[in-house]
Amino acid sequence: MKYSLFVFFLYLTAVTSDLDSDRRALTLLRNSVRGRPLLWNMNAASPCAWHGVHCDSGRVTALRLPGAGLFGSLPLGGIGNLTQLQTLSLRFNSLSGPIPSDFSNLVRLRYLYLQGNAFSGEIPAFLFALPNVIRINLGENGFSGRIPGNVNNATKLVTLYLERNQLTGSIPEINITLQQFNVSNNQLNGSIPVSLSGFPLTAFQGNTLCGKPLNPCEDDNNAESPNSPPPVSVSPPGEKKDSDKLSAGAIAGIVIGAVTGLVLLLLILFCLCKRKKEENGPTRNVEAPVAAATTTAAAIPKETAAYVPPAKTAASGSSVVNKDLTFFVKTFGEFDLDGLLKASAEVLGKGTVGSSYKASFEHGLVVAVKRLRDVVVPEKDFRERLQVLGSMSHPNLVTLIAYYFSPDEKLLVSEYMSKGSLSALLHGNKGNGRAPLNWETRAGIALGAARAISYLHSRDSTTSHGNIKSANILLSDSNEAKVSDYGLAPIISSTSAPNRIDGYRAPEVTDARKISQKADVYSFGVLILELLTGKSPTHQQLTEEGVDLPRWVQSITDQQSPSGVFDPELAGHQSQGNENMIRLLKIGISCTAQYPDSRPSMADVTRLIEELSHS
Ligand SMILES: *[C@@H]1O[C@H](CO)[C@@H](O)[C@H](O)[C@H]1NC(C)=O
Ligand SMILES: *[C@@H]1O[C@H](CO)[C@@H](O)[C@H](O)[C@H]1NC(C)=O
Ligand SMILES: *[C@@H]1O[C@H](CO)[C@@H](O)[C@H](O)[C@H]1NC(C)=O
Ligand SMILES: *[C@@H]1O[C@H](CO)[C@@H](O)[C@H](O)[C@H]1NC(C)=O
Ligand SMILES: *[C@@H]1O[C@H](CO)[C@@H](O)[C@H](O)[C@H]1NC(C)=O
Repeated sequence: MKYSLFVFFLYLTAVTSDLDSDRRALTLLRNSVRGRPLLWNMNAASPCAWHGVHCDSGRVTALRLPGAGLFGSLPLGGIGNLTQLQTLSLRFNSLSGPIPSDFSNLVRLRYLYLQGNAFSGEIPAFLFALPNVIRINLGENGFSGRIPGNVNNATKLVTLYLERNQLTGSIPEINITLQQFNVSNNQLNGSIPVSLSGFPLTAFQGNTLCGKPLNPCEDDNNAESPNSPPPVSVSPPGEKKDSDKLSAGAIAGIVIGAVTGLVLLLLILFCLCKRKKEENGPTRNVEAPVAAATTTAAAIPKETAAYVPPAKTAASGSSVVNKDLTFFVKTFGEFDLDGLLKASAEVLGKGTVGSSYKASFEHGLVVAVKRLRDVVVPEKDFRERLQVLGSMSHPNLVTLIAYYFSPDEKLLVSEYMSKGSLSALLHGNKGNGRAPLNWETRAGIALGAARAISYLHSRDSTTSHGNIKSANILLSDSNEAKVSDYGLAPIISSTSAPNRIDGYRAPEVTDARKISQKADVYSFGVLILELLTGKSPTHQQLTEEGVDLPRWVQSITDQQSPSGVFDPELAGHQSQGNENMIRLLKIGISCTAQYPDSRPSMADVTRLIEELSHS
């Protein structure tokens, strides 16, 4: 099904009452706690402009008021009503009282930072039942009682900081794979579950705990007390989907059934079109959206993502708004924002930086449009960054054509690659009419990608790609690698990506907005291993075993001949091919060295791959 891009965005229009509800909730919060929110301009048209409030798609998705001198306790019906909230940071204030019970409504919440306050009461068990929660930091508060027994319900949790509270009782069995954990300086007793014994001693000190990494327990010198069965490091399956593809069909599926009324949609459309007509004069863009909308009117959005039409935001004049696209290259043909929105569109996928669409113009031009989510930098920085990215040019980089910036919408237009991504090619419907990728093609892709990344690294010592993975390696018609999504990490909120713990990230990386060149090399190494093994680093089987791709490859090559790791699809390749495959495998392994200093530079990697490609 194809609709115009305009309709796609409009489709996701939130009923504004949702934002009104967010506004009421924030107002209640403001009236309940003293501190910096008092400075919010209550006359502002949208709460999204308030300090610390971040909106995405017309709803409040982040509230960050660290060290804002907040004082008092959190009211019911306040933050708990911000139902689209993904990030809550109230760290280092003087908030007291319990965590409100309606926080259980925050089903989108991923990051909860309440450390450094005076919160008290028990840690509510529902926090661990929030389906998306990734990090919980409740350190340095006055929480008492036991650590809830259902920590394992938080299947995506990677950080749990509870240090410096007054927690009592024993540490429950925790068998989800946490990466960060601290319960130091509480009043906990009993033995440390074996599954947590790998954390440093400082994570447990200041309690009366025993067992590894502290002193062995007295009663049963055996760390495997009944309290602590053997460690199971299992990331529960499923839950990976949100970072993956969302087909047009899926989108349609999502929206169908959420019928709030054809009349409403038509009304909105009518108003928008009228407004556009008034501003643009002739009736030129009235038909397309209405026509498209009527064909699809049964499916009205529940998914909320307000698309404020650019014309409208320009009119409301909140800042200097460039009403149209800013072009880097014109060789792809002439079009403007209106034309782009009228182009017929298809959803390509939903990635870490936003959703992508394929937009086809009537005159035949096809481009890819990315709608950037969670851009965290001001307009000036955004434009500067985009100018830098737009100036990059390399045969193995996807060419950026243009961008659009308004407070509510950031679009990136780039060349469209009909063959899709390496990820889809490697892992998509195997055997289903899909041509296997042979060794020559894979080696060519590795070389092309290496050259593009080397080029990025050669620009200056701080430039990195920031998000190397097979989903960002697109392929030209002749199967040449075209690297996409480069250099966007610094302008996108590091908390925005679903599941940043994605198998490509170097172990030293703590902030997804700051990826060094050596961290790029690590990710590239994982990519090579993926090319050779045919296994996705995010593959469930791997993560379920608590293993990442580099470790898996290592464990196999330690035991048997390296050819044991290769993708069965490459099996036909003998002698010469096989030898080069082993050489490439070694390059991949060296890139994924644990310590950044032990990894080769991207220039070295490129040279090595060039050598093996020529032999
Ligand atoms: C929060 O939501 C509840 C239930 O929907 C509602 O009764 C309450 O008025 C809301 N609070 C605010 C401040 O709007
Ligand atoms: C938490 O997990 C347990 C099983 O471990 C399950 O019985 C319970 O329903 C879950 N609770 C919630 C609120 O998800
Ligand atoms: C994790 O532990 C809980 C009990 O604490 C248990 O019910 C569950 O089956 C365990 N999960 C796995 C995958 O071992
Ligand atoms: C832990 O402390 C509690 C009191 O806070 C006590 O009742 C319990 O017996 C202690 N457990 C162990 C294993 O020492
Ligand atoms: C745990 O928290 C304490 C402060 O209570 C800190 O000194 C220690 O370094 C932390 N350890 C870890 C592993 O986070």
